[in-house]
Amino acid sequence: MDQEKLYIVMVGLPARGKTTVASKLKDNLRHDSINTRIFNNGELRRKMIRDDTSYAGFFDPRNRKGMAIREKIACINMEKARGFLRDGGQVAILDATNVSLERRKKIQAFLNDHPILFLECINEDEEILNASILRKIDLAEFGHLTQAEAIESFKQRIAFYESIYHPLEREKNFIRLDSLNNKILHEEIPGRIPYQDQIRDFLVTDTVKNLYLIRHGETYFNLEDRIGGDSELTENGRQQALALAEYFKKKKIPLIFTSQKRRTIQTAEPIRQMQEKCTIIPLSEFNEIDSGVCECMSYEEIRTQMPHVHEARKADKYNYVYPGGEGYATMKERIDRGIKKALYLSRPSDNIMIVGHRAVNRMILSHFLYRRTEDVPYIYIPQDKFYHIVATQDKKLFQLRRYAS
Ligand code: F6P
Repeated sequence: MDQEKLYIVMVGLPARGKTTVASKLKDNLRHDSINTRIFNNGELRRKMIRDDTSYAGFFDPRNRKGMAIREKIACINMEKARGFLRDGGQVAILDATNVSLERRKKIQAFLNDHPILFLECINEDEEILNASILRKIDLAEFGHLTQAEAIESFKQRIAFYESIYHPLEREKNFIRLDSLNNKILHEEIPGRIPYQDQIRDFLVTDTVKNLYLIRHGETYFNLEDRIGGDSELTENGRQQALALAEYFKKKKIPLIFTSQKRRTIQTAEPIRQMQEKCTIIPLSEFNEIDSGVCECMSYEEIRTQMPHVHEARKADKYNYVYPGGEGYATMKERIDRGIKKALYLSRPSDNIMIVGHRAVNRMILSHFLYRRTEDVPYIYIPQDKFYHIVATQDKKLFQLRRYAS
């Protein structure tokens, strides 16, 4: 058997990140000069079948016609994948739910010329699942339904898949992946399979093609050097937001992640308005550092009224925790969670935008680019410039750019 060729068969319920993971694998393998192609059943179904196949009942396992169509699509893609490996391809990725044992048996029987790695994507985070469903129903096939109807229909579709779902356990080579956290939950690869080391590494690494990291525009609190709170943008801050909107109007920004604070949402709003299609997603994970008893105080007030806080923070800013609040070190877990959510909800080719705060943006930067912890709380985060971050296999970029002249 030729050991240099491999099938990767995705497994998982709808909206569990399979396509994102498949495409991340493809990009990384191709970058390693490994000829890789994805065969996606959903795309082929939408291309080939003229009738409406978006309604939930189509996916009911008791719907014979629907089943026959889906099996046919699966077979066509299996044939194409076989042909691809025969004609010089090295890794063929089959992107479909493949949740039933029967389907997987069929795949194993048909794709018997090279090893298969089954890769199951798992994510049970309610909030992320709902946000993912919202992205799914953006597809043209849901265009004739209202948003509520489309959500209902997609949830029903998931329920049909759940009724025949068998998690991986007896297949020869498999990985079960927590696709939100890029964490391998279970791995069974008894022998060696081609490209095993690269694949494992790619699965657990965060990559971003273009991340625009912006700090909110100037606020009334900024003018007084006050921290925390929920202040609004000043006129200057609004002008900064408009300049950002103008700057980014030529780039496609499908999602803008903000905190739940008014200053980040007000900064994102004009940017959203200048885009053809763009949604703002406020995440609590990106709220500014909670300064506890010092919320809404100015740095000067803290220095004079709470000198112990001022001194202790100065001595070890990264590890210091405000009484009743947070510190940089204790924010890390939630910031990492916010980044995972933003990456999970974005398509691999998407430009990603985050509008955050000073401390939040320092932590986001340090997630992608190594900084000694003692230097993180001092990273420069201006309001008239933004960071452009690229973190892929072949490129690491960390550029501070001005958006207005
Ligand atoms: O712009 C002010 C601010 O975002 C505060 O809300 C926050 O406490 C502070 O910056 C974080 O910066 P530092 O850790 O340097 O005080």
